[in-house]
Amino acid sequence: MKNAAFRAHTNIALIKYWGKEDETLFIPMNSSLSLTLNELYTDTFVSRLDEGAKDSFILNNHEQSEEETKKISKFLDLFRKEAGISSAFRVESINHVPTAAGLASSASAFAALAGAMNQVTGLQMDPQKLSTYARRGSGSSTRSLFGGFVEWQKGTSSEDSMAIPIDPADWDIGMVIVAVNKTAKKISSRLGMKQTVETSPFYPAWVSSAKDDLIAIKEAIHEHDFKRLGEITEHSAMKMHGSMLGAKRPIIYFEPDSMKAIQTVKKLREEGLLCYVTMDAGPNVKVLCRLSEAEKIKQKLLEDFTEEQVLISGPGPGIRPLTDNE
Ligand code: PMV
Repeated sequence: MKNAAFRAHTNIALIKYWGKEDETLFIPMNSSLSLTLNELYTDTFVSRLDEGAKDSFILNNHEQSEEETKKISKFLDLFRKEAGISSAFRVESINHVPTAAGLASSASAFAALAGAMNQVTGLQMDPQKLSTYARRGSGSSTRSLFGGFVEWQKGTSSEDSMAIPIDPADWDIGMVIVAVNKTAKKISSRLGMKQTVETSPFYPAWVSSAKDDLIAIKEAIHEHDFKRLGEITEHSAMKMHGSMLGAKRPIIYFEPDSMKAIQTVKKLREEGLLCYVTMDAGPNVKVLCRLSEAEKIKQKLLEDFTEEQVLISGPGPGIRPLTDNE
């Protein structure tokens, strides 16, 4: 029996991915760009089982249902196929992220699993190639292979729809995360994307503007222009949610408390503090800011939220194997 253990950090998109060109291969409609976060991550342990055994999946110490395990098995099949093996695996994950609350737990989960499977099967793919595998678990996990600012290039095929590191984010940058609601989201990103692509008249505008935003944000990162970075980030998130609102049966992830956090950020900005919001497929609000000013923003948010709901994070690293005592 061979074992492997990997840690992957979650990432928050600044230029969002929303919509698939190929639903089976997880090829996106547009390229996206994210910041990997230090404080939110998944640790995954994989062991190869003896012939005849079945895959099993344990998440946060709970054995998962057959349906959940099937999703993991499908992902493991990609590695089994590449390595030419048929053995089953036991997958054990600990999420240091509120699961399915729009804090992108699937991003770190599949990236950590990809890292562990790469090791346990002896495939030794480089991180870029491995990101094309992580992508097949969940699109956003493509970007969690690397640390700092990461671009997921849409590519032209399954082989080149991959992540590339853009900048280590070793400058004054961070996020304040407001966990508005930690319960599982109501509309999965998969369904939300499909509904938006198929029915929203705003969707084509979203795709074409995401292309321009990507070029602009890479310039802002290169120049360490925080104001421009923040403005593009907030605009991208609002445009994505705008395209969802235009779907037939609108998709609304905003909750009253999301609006409360957004208003606070707006007010802080009017007072001269540079900070910008972004939101994903859930009600939680993430505030992009200078890490040196994160505490000030947190204190302001604590007027409406509890200590438990507000978390500060700096940029995080790419995936790495865990040592024996971790
Ligand atoms: O890959 P998924 O299913 O976790 O979808 C991610 C979608 C967003 O979080 C809304 C945007 C993004 O780029 O992460």
